[in-house]
Amino acid sequence: MLIAANWKMHGDRAFLTAYFEGAGALSWPEAQTHLVFPPATLLERAAEAGAAVGMVAGAQAIHPARDGAHTGCLSAEQVAEAGARWALLGHSERRAQGETDLDVAAQLEAAARAGLRGLVCVGEGLAVREEDEAEAYVLGQLAAVLALPAPALDALGAIAYEPIWAIGTGRTATPELAQAMHRALRERLEVAGLGGLPLLYGGSVKPDNAKALLSQPDIDGVLVGGASLDITAFNAIARAANE
Ligand code: 13P
Repeated sequence: MLIAANWKMHGDRAFLTAYFEGAGALSWPEAQTHLVFPPATLLERAAEAGAAVGMVAGAQAIHPARDGAHTGCLSAEQVAEAGARWALLGHSERRAQGETDLDVAAQLEAAARAGLRGLVCVGEGLAVREEDEAEAYVLGQLAAVLALPAPALDALGAIAYEPIWAIGTGRTATPELAQAMHRALRERLEVAGLGGLPLLYGGSVKPDNAKALLSQPDIDGVLVGGASLDITAFNAIARAANE
């Protein structure tokens, strides 16, 4: 099980200190990996404080290039030096700013170059869902990634299915709907020899819906936004996986 916290553009040093103190005071299920994706300014501190409580830090985004004239961006090498071990790639909030499927594939190549694991995010908007095109759309988002040659593809650590209509809206996908998409992803990954890759669900995951989602056969973890900012709620989500 992979239980991941995406803080998005939330948090400062005081928040971070309280967060990891809180994490240290709680008991966490074994046989789970706990990831935390803080804002880049907190990455180094999160890597250190997280290590003390068994949480692994990752970057919310990386640029494909190693360096260059890319104002405001961070390379895979830079976030790795700051302590990141993972990177989110192609989160819908980044895709909304113009990141394409090809950009996401290039980011995975960069992650591989820097020794990071990539957590590739996919997910359809409401219009696509209502047109009954969600499965083809989501599998299409993965095509460029799965077409990468071996060294880059080896850096693919997990995939998160995050339907855009469920992010931050309180409108969670039903466990059955999420499972159906995860099954389609699994079948596609099996063809690529990656059937064992962890498949996370994201979108309004809360303590009270985590158990139903995580008990689906093809849901191997969750990527949590809003509820992950409350360490007690995030811990409750992690514990729900073992219930
Ligand atoms: P919420 O849990 O706030 O819906 O966010 C989901 C998400 O985008 C995690 O990456």
